[in-house]
Amino acid sequence: MQVAETISSVRKAVKAAHRRSKTIGFVPTMGALHVGHLSLIEAAKKDCDYVIVSIFVNPTQFGPGEDFQKYPRPLEKDLDMCRKAGVDLVFAPAPAEMYKSGNITWVTVEKLTDPLCGRSRPGHFRGVTTVCAKLFNIVGPDLAYFGQKDAQQAIVIRRMVEDLNMPLQIVICPTAREPDGLAVSSRNKYLNADQRKDAAALYRSLEKCRRMVEAGTTDTAALAAEMRKTLGEFPAIEIEYLSIVDAETLEDTDRIAGRALVALAARLGPARLIDNIIVEA
Ligand code: PAJ
Repeated sequence: MQVAETISSVRKAVKAAHRRSKTIGFVPTMGALHVGHLSLIEAAKKDCDYVIVSIFVNPTQFGPGEDFQKYPRPLEKDLDMCRKAGVDLVFAPAPAEMYKSGNITWVTVEKLTDPLCGRSRPGHFRGVTTVCAKLFNIVGPDLAYFGQKDAQQAIVIRRMVEDLNMPLQIVICPTAREPDGLAVSSRNKYLNADQRKDAAALYRSLEKCRRMVEAGTTDTAALAAEMRKTLGEFPAIEIEYLSIVDAETLEDTDRIAGRALVALAARLGPARLIDNIIVEA
């Protein structure tokens, strides 16, 4: 497995892989890898001949007071996991390599970034789309893999690729979960034992919503109220948002007709956790 720290060395490796007609699969990450990331790597391995993982804690997607400084950076462990997963190249640049002259050029996706996490994290998606556009330009993948765990991010990236005619396909992979249903996340490390136990209620509330939709409830206010009741039993869970929106446009709906995204963000002590499911009526 090659480890590249510079843009030029990635370009050289990709050029060589292209010459051998390899299909390039790309998994962008911020490191602190876990089974969720590994599931994306596995999917890329299945579809592609040459798999690249980037590990870069992207400063431009963190707001002031967010966890940029304390975000875990276990690089050696991450490289080991990539090696074992059969990754061909890891791109792990320093911030100065990615943002050489500071940054005055931004990629912004409108509308889709307004609700949900966009509302509570102003500027976050601008950082995500900009770094992904840069990474796509550096790596030049045929396919790039994103997790349903960050549903809005995946939808925003897919739209950026479509609107800017970027020559790659975005593949969205299912959310990897702990046995009790909690979505696997690098930020779960911030939870103490009690908070970790309570965190499972997030997915239980989503599952409750799914069961209600399956039983015929389509009124989004009623569904959200039931979910809030479930979560209300856990005083440590502070809901940031709980929204049921159209799965494609992310617009609010009074009644589910077709595919809807049920998405939530909550604070549990020091951690901000997000999760979602798709329901259909
Ligand atoms: P990061 O949080 O490291 O996540 C990298 C990818 O792994 C994202 O596509 C995310 O949705 C996916 N992922 C995380 N947890 C998952 C889980 N439990 N199941 C399935 N997939 C999961 O998302 C980012 O980094 C950054 O914003 C990035 C796209 C790299 C841009 O900086």
